[in-house]
Amino acid sequence: MASEPILVDWSPRHAGLFGNHLIKLQHRLHESPLFSNDALARLIEEVPRAHYHVNTMNQTVHDPASWRDGEIGDASGHDVIEAVRTGNIWVLIQRVGEIDPAYQAVIDQIFDEFEAGVPGLKTFKQKMSILISSPKVQVYYHCDIPGQSLWQIQGRKRIYIYPNTAPFLRQEAMERIILNEADEQDTPYEPWFDDYADVIDLEPGQMLHWPINGPHRVVNHDCLNVSFTTEHWTTPLRNRYANHYANGVLRRSLGVKNVGIAESGPALWGKLALAAAHRYSGMQKKNRMTYKVDFRVDPAAPMGMRDIEAYELAK
Ligand SMILES: [Fe+2]
Repeated sequence: MASEPILVDWSPRHAGLFGNHLIKLQHRLHESPLFSNDALARLIEEVPRAHYHVNTMNQTVHDPASWRDGEIGDASGHDVIEAVRTGNIWVLIQRVGEIDPAYQAVIDQIFDEFEAGVPGLKTFKQKMSILISSPKVQVYYHCDIPGQSLWQIQGRKRIYIYPNTAPFLRQEAMERIILNEADEQDTPYEPWFDDYADVIDLEPGQMLHWPINGPHRVVNHDCLNVSFTTEHWTTPLRNRYANHYANGVLRRSLGVKNVGIAESGPALWGKLALAAAHRYSGMQKKNRMTYKVDFRVDPAAPMGMRDIEAYELAK
């Protein structure tokens, strides 16, 4: 596969669009054996606990409180896929490149192609997460901190992408996510936001890349969905992150209200230093996320899952 490009229809216009505007492209990875059901089943059986989440949620309305965490237990990979096909769950396998070098090779090729197509683009800390999700499952409105792309492998989903500015995304909401005070899904959402969204149906062999931090939500069509996300960092993205981080610290510890974004120079260096000092001071450790795990995947159960005695998982 390395001899063939992954991206089918990249053209010079995408160099200027990348990172700033919505891009929809064709890719070949839906035909790769690495994303067949057999390969996914094997991955599910090999994935360490720290690398996955299984979730369920209310399928019909935006209800973040209905979001629950579960575990795979000892179900076989194919049984898990079957439970996803007939149930109401979502399996997320994170940092796939660390599990199997064959996926790392795909990540490397994707970002080699992006960097070849966008003059000056230099990415780092690239990651892939594979999502196997039930018919009609929703991913609620949220924003991600690094650069994001979504690649469709199997099934169809509808993606709503919103402007990355207020009122759709407020600076305070970003700071809460960056300081680990809130989950990405705590980004405030109103149904009328949809009037301002780009709405795209994604089919196997299509991918989307959207502007940095752009809030989005996803609704699966009535079929099993397999897709993956890639995330990446660049120096400008890292600087933007440090700005939000430092601004969040300034607001909280010094009560500074009007904090701005420093793009360069001493103001940026100050923000970078403050963010780094705070992170290394250990204060951040207190904010490690814990999850209450209270169901197990079960293909024989009605929603592909059954309740278990709840326990806490720290990640
Ligand atoms: Fe996302």
